Order: sequence, then structure tokens, then C-alpha cells
Amino acid sequence: MTPLIHTPQWQILAAHRDVLAGIHLNDLFAADPQRFARLSLQCGDLLCDFSKQRLTTETLALLVRLAEARDLAGFLRRMAAGEAINATENRAALHIALRAERPYRVAGRDVLPEVRATRARMRELTEAIRSGSWRGSSGARIDTIVNLGIGGSDLGPRMAAQALGAYADANLAARFVANIDPAEFADTVRDLDPERTLFIVSSKTFTTQETLANARAARAWLGKADPARHFLAVSNNLAAARDFGIPAENCLAMADWVGGRFSMWSAIGLPLACSIGMDAFEELLAGARQMDEHFLSTPYAENLPVVMALVGLWNIDFLGADSLAVIPYAHRLGLLPAYLQQLEMESNGKRVTLDNQEVGCATAPILWGMAGSVGQHAFHQLFYQGTRLTPIDFVVPVGDASPEQEALVANALAQGAALMKGKSLAEARAQLVAAGKSAAEAERLAPHLACPGNQPSTTLLMPQLTPRTLGSLIALYEHKVAVQGCLWGVNSFDQWGVEHGKQMAREILPKMLAGAGDFDDPKEIPLWDASTTGLLAAIRAWRKA
Ligand code: F6P
Repeated sequence: MTPLIHTPQWQILAAHRDVLAGIHLNDLFAADPQRFARLSLQCGDLLCDFSKQRLTTETLALLVRLAEARDLAGFLRRMAAGEAINATENRAALHIALRAERPYRVAGRDVLPEVRATRARMRELTEAIRSGSWRGSSGARIDTIVNLGIGGSDLGPRMAAQALGAYADANLAARFVANIDPAEFADTVRDLDPERTLFIVSSKTFTTQETLANARAARAWLGKADPARHFLAVSNNLAAARDFGIPAENCLAMADWVGGRFSMWSAIGLPLACSIGMDAFEELLAGARQMDEHFLSTPYAENLPVVMALVGLWNIDFLGADSLAVIPYAHRLGLLPAYLQQLEMESNGKRVTLDNQEVGCATAPILWGMAGSVGQHAFHQLFYQGTRLTPIDFVVPVGDASPEQEALVANALAQGAALMKGKSLAEARAQLVAAGKSAAEAERLAPHLACPGNQPSTTLLMPQLTPRTLGSLIALYEHKVAVQGCLWGVNSFDQWGVEHGKQMAREILPKMLAGAGDFDDPKEIPLWDASTTGLLAAIRAWRKA
């Protein structure tokens, strides 16, 4: 396939970018009173305003042509047909089937029956736990679920359980342990009663070092309690779960055609379903399904995930943005940036295309962020007056009309507006004079108050943060990532780079456990570098001291 950057559509976009250069967003709004209407899209309760992005409808039309040239339609067809689009692992990426009400096939087999069976089992388990009919081995009612998992087996349910805290069962706490640092496990269980605690070991592979270490810590902490009453497992490797000592009837299967970071809709969502109940969990799926249907049936120019992907690609590859800040104006969405970090950076943090060529342009942005309005008092200064182009997604559940909530939403809207509008030198001078400064003082200080504006942002507005709107929101980002991966030509569904780090850890750990650190044997040196050897030696010396 022709490298993306050598396609005629890319060249046209590059020339178009040069034409737009120097045009301020304020000028684009002044030139087109219909700009908001033209550049905002809606799917269900999700309204996405792209009008504060540095582009025009012509830009979007050119980007759509780029998507057509990369055969996005063919990619979507192959994805929905359950083909092995994850070609380096020879697997389908069919997370849409997890929220479907219609058959989807993987290797010719309809997976809907197994999806429904797993969901039915999740309902049985969650109802037993929430109603108190599931008892610990001493007969005590379970009051806390602790999920042991990492990456995709942690971030989705953890983020969503916090996001949907308003729906949580008051009698059942849901906690999450991911880190191999024993401090996280210790802090999480410190105030818990083993007789009232139920662990869910969530691991697609059931080989992940961190999760297995925490599962062993849980088994030790439970003491004499019967694992059959205090452990559930979710995995694609049920044999390993059983070998660990979790009985078959406590294990839920997860299919290999679901990638870890796309798995919160599967049984990996069990801790979330325990917390909010299976009806609310199904609402989450319904929200995602609504986005799926929109994504698979809407023309590109009106297709929310496609447009979001194209806008992101424009910012990264044509305007040179390195990062994407995601700022949810909802305390309960505080973990959304961490969740999206894995989704975007593990999926598209790639440099080689599926046909083994260098991509030739920048791929996934560095995604970061935290809840607004807290971030305003931390890093927004850089948005206003720093030297970088920093596109932002503002995620804003509007909520009720209380004065406090109105203040939160007003702050969200104010950021997008002020970052775009900026403040001219003349405005800064006038502000200073109005505040009583002399003309000379105003002249000296004005450059420090002035803001260039023109910072691009997208605002994602929803009436309320509900299971349904959250489902749509997450599915939106999932599809955005898949579209960008298709355009860049990378495989969004593998993560071989991560394996490289895991392998090195596997080499270093035995040396540490053996108390090694001098590495006199020259055969050992090539395993890593002199710096790491030096650090290991320092650790060894401290341990001896
Ligand atoms: O970090 C790499 C990774 O493989 C993720 O993709 C995955 O979500 C995570 O580890 C956990 O894997 P598992 O569910 O197999 O424990």
C-alpha cells in the first residue's frame, strides 16, 4: 500500500494546511455564523462540538477523502465480519459483539450465544452478591469486591465504577488493585474483613506478573477462608485460573477476540456490574451499541467517531500537536484520562505499518489530563500562554441546574472559549489601565497578560453522566482509535512493545532475587547495559548496608 504521506490526498491536505496557516479561529467564526451548526455532530445524547478546531468544512471534506483512499469502509467491513484484523496475533477485534443484539461471526461461528450466556452468568453472580445470598466461608455477607487486574483488566471497570458512583450499591464497595507494589494491596485491604471480601482475579492471559502477585497476596491475606467463597476469576485461560485454585464454577470466560483495553464490556466488567447492578451495566452496553450502530451506518462527514479521528489526525500530522489533553468536567470522570491513555497509546503508539513499512508520520498523541476545574489551577497556564499547540477534549456532563453545577459547567465552557479567543495586547493594556495602572506600567505588563488564543478544543457535551452516556462516550473513543489506526496503517490491537519491557523485567528479577549485582560473568553483561548494572550494584550495596 502507498505510504499514507505519499498519497495525493495527503499532499492536498498539506497544501490546504498552508493556506489556512495564520488564520485565527476567531476569523473562522467571524467568517461563518453557521460554524457551530456546521461543525458539531450528535449521536444520541452525545453532542460533539468540533467548531473550535483549527479547520473548516473543506478541511473535513479533504480528510474524508483521505479516509476513503485508505479504504476505511473495507476495514470496517472486515472488523464487523470478525476477520483477523489483529494480524500480528491472528485474531479478530470484535468488542462490538459484546454489546450487540444481533449475531456477529468469528471464523464463521456466531458468538452472540456465548456473549449472552456470559452476561446471564454475570447477572446470576451479581444478583447473588448484591442480594447477600452469596456468603463468605464463615457465612458472612460480602461487603467488598476487590478486583485484581492491570491494564485493560483494571482501568475500564475502575474508571467506570468511579464514573457511575451515583449508581453504586451502598452496601457493596468495589475496590481495585493493579500495582505490583505491595503497598497498593496493603492499603486496599487494610480496613477490610477477609470473611466479607470477595476477590475477582481479572486477567485475560492469567500470566500477568502483577495480577498473579496480587492474587497470591490475596490468598495469603484470606488465611483459612475457603477460596471457593472468596475468589472469582475472569480469563481466557481458565485452566490457569483453576490451577491457581479457583473452582470452575467461579470462573467466567473472556474470548480471545476481545483485546484487553477493549474488554470492559465483557466479563471483565464484573466488578462494575457488581457495583452498579446488571441492569445499569446493560444500559452501559446499550449506550455503546447506539454508538456502534451510528459508527457503522453513518456517512463519514456526519459520523462522530470518524470525524473525531480525522480531527485528531489533522492536529497531530498537519498541525504538529504532540499531545491530546482530555479534561472531564466531572469529578467522577477523573480516571477517564488514565483509561484513554491505554486505549489510545497502547493501540496506536506504533511506528510500523501492517505491511512492514515505517508509518512516516506521527501516530498516537501523548494523552494526558485530569478533572476540571482542578486542572485549571495546575496546568491550564501552559494552554493559555505556553509555546505548544495543545488540543483539548473537554468532556462535560451538564447535570442538574444547581448553582454549584452551573459553576462547574460555566468553567468548562469558559476554558474552551477563552483559549480560543485569547487576549490581545490592546485588551491587556486596557484591562491594566482599568485596574488603575499608569500607561507606562500597562505597557510594561501587557505582554505578560496577553494570550494568543487559537488553541483548538473539542467539547463533548451530554445531559447527564449515566451508564448509557458513558457507554456511548467510551465506544466513541474506541472507534476513533480504530479509524486512526486504519489511516496510519498500523495494527491498533497488539502491544508488542510492552512485551519487550516485560521480558527485560523477567531477566532482571532473578538477579535481584539472587542478590546478584556484581555480574563478574562477562556472559551476563550483554543482557542489559552498564547503567542498569550500576544501578543494580547500588541497590545491592544499600541492601547489604
Ligand atoms: O500491558 C500489556 C497488557 O497486555 C495489556 O494490553 C493488558 O490489558 C494487560 O497487560 C493485562 O493483561 P491480562 O489481562 O492478560 O492480565
